[in-house]
Formats: sequence, C-alpha cells, structure tokens
Amino acid sequence: MRTLELPGGATMPAFGLGTWKIGESAGRRAAEVAALRAAIAMGYRLIDSAQMYGEGGAEEVVGQAVAEALRAGDVRREALFIVSKVYPHNASRAGTPKACARSLARLGLDHIDLYLLHWRGEHPLGDTCEAMQALVAAGKIRHWGVSNFDTDDMEELAALASDCAANQVYYSVAERGPEFSLLPWQHERGIPLMAYSPIDQGALAADAGLQQIAQRLGIGAAQLALAWVLAQPGVAAIPKAVRESHLRENLAAAALTLHPEVLAEIDRLHPAPRRNRPLAMI
Ligand SMILES: NC(=O)c1ccc[n+]([C@@H]2O[C@H](COP(=O)([O-])OP(=O)(O)OC[C@H]3O[C@@H](n4cnc5c(N)ncnc54)[C@H](OP(=O)(O)O)[C@@H]3O)[C@@H](O)[C@H]2O)c1
Repeated sequence: MRTLELPGGATMPAFGLGTWKIGESAGRRAAEVAALRAAIAMGYRLIDSAQMYGEGGAEEVVGQAVAEALRAGDVRREALFIVSKVYPHNASRAGTPKACARSLARLGLDHIDLYLLHWRGEHPLGDTCEAMQALVAAGKIRHWGVSNFDTDDMEELAALASDCAANQVYYSVAERGPEFSLLPWQHERGIPLMAYSPIDQGALAADAGLQQIAQRLGIGAAQLALAWVLAQPGVAAIPKAVRESHLRENLAAAALTLHPEVLAEIDRLHPAPRRNRPLAMI
C-alpha cells in the first residue's frame, strides 16, 4: 500500500475506506461490520469515520469490526490508521476532548490516528488547535487536521499552528476545483490532501467518457476515477463501499498506474480548473 508522508515524518496510507452512511440502521449493522471486516482482511488499512456519521453509529461499526479483526489476528493495531472527526459545534477548547473521548469509547480504541475538525464552525480556530494539540500531548490522538478548509482557511490556520497533518476535501475527476490553489498550497507545505467522494458517490462509475477509456484498459470507470485521484501527488483517497465487489475493485484500483496518455485523455474529458472557485462541499 502506497503511503504519504505527513508533516513531521510519520506516514499515512494513501488509500482507505470511507464510512459515511454506515451505522445509520440497526438492521444493516451486521452486514456493515462484515463489510468492514472483509475490507481489513483484504488489505484496507486506513478507515475514515466521523462523530457525525450515523450520530456515532459508524464509529461503533468500525469499533466492532476492528475489535473482531484484532481478536482474530487479521491485523495489528499499529498497522491500522483510524481517522475520525469532531463536529464543529463540539470543537471548543473544552468540547473537543469530550467529543474525542466519546469517539474513542465508540471505537473501542485508546487513540485515534488522525482527528479532524469536520468543517469550520463557530468556535475560534485557535481554541480548536490548542485542544487538538493537547489531545496529541495526552496520547489520545496521533495527528490532527481539518476538513473542508479552502486555501484562505489554511492560510489562517497556518498562522495559528504548524502541525496540521491533513486537509480532507471533496476532490474527484469531476470536481477538480482544489487543483487551482488549495492542492498546490498544501503540496508546497507537505500537507496531504485527503480526497472525499472520489467517485462522486458512485456517479463516476456511470460516466460515459470514463467508461470508454476504462473498457479499453480492462477496468471499471470507478476504478479509473480512483486511480486518477491517486495519481495526483500528495493526495489520498477514501472511497466508501460496503459491497464486497466494490471493496475489491477499489483496492485493486489503488495499485494501478495510469499511462501519461490516459491522464491526458482524462484531462480532455474533465479539464483542470482555469480559475479559482470556492471549495465545493458535499
Ligand atoms: N469530510 C467530509 O466533509 C466528507 C464528506 C463526504 C464524504 N467524506 C468521507 O469520504 C468517504 C467517501 O465519500 P462518499 O461516501 O461521499 O462517496 P464515494 O466514496 O465517492 O462513493 C460511495 C458510493 O459509491 C459506491 N461505490 C463504491 N465503489 C464503487 C465501485 N467500484 N463501482 C461503483 N460504485 C461504487 C458505493 O456503493 P456501496 O456502498 O453500495 O458499495 C457508495 O454508494 C465517505 O464515506 C466519508 O468517509 C467526508
């Protein structure tokens, strides 16, 4: 599994599994735990979750799957990279550690590998930074970062703290806005960009142009979309999937290298942005 270097020198898998829409229904829980376990067994090492997903339900599903995988000896805790996020309304100096403690309890873990501010909210950014840094010092999280931060937000953050490890934003072959200024800004500073909704919530699997190229390469359009995201320097991707066929296809896509001519063809289909526009959010 390819890794990305975080500021400070630690590494993070460049590919992982999203968990939005998981943990929302008790009836689907067993199947979702089984999907997470299958993912870990087939080699997924980064799992992205959030306090928001299923209002804690997704973290519980991740916690159960990870506990079972650890007990079965499928993986070691140190090999996993667990990401979660704090709701902005909880991201105060006092609220952040409390929210983190609740996430840790649901995950059944003693630390989270990367803890993100889900998006900017009403609490002063400096307070959130201090709370995150205190959580690192206490060993509750290994790294902290942000999500849905545009370039100006990152500039503001950089004036307050120098240890932000990542920014997770909407980035896909059909949503290339971050390439105009955010991605170069982060790349220059060695801060990885985690691409969420990298297959546009499944829609890119049906993109006619991508399908045509993918067919020629003997892969699926969703795989092509993922391989394209992962070909961008300093970018990680976290597609969500519960269907085993999707899990396998996506993992296989993480190992693909696209020929420059294929990248150029994709550029013609979905061109890079020519001007700055506000960061898109899903
Ligand atoms: N920070 C944020 O604000 C934010 C916002 C959005 C998302 N995220 C994170 O990013 C993750 C990924 O984004 P997302 O869930 O919005 O969308 P996504 O990963 O682009 O797409 C997920 C959808 O695509 C389907 N799919 C997966 N692999 C496929 C394949 N190979 N072929 C065809 N369809 C496929 C999945 O189906 P099945 O599930 O049925 O397999 C699911 O319906 C989230 O789960 C979450 O962890 C973060």
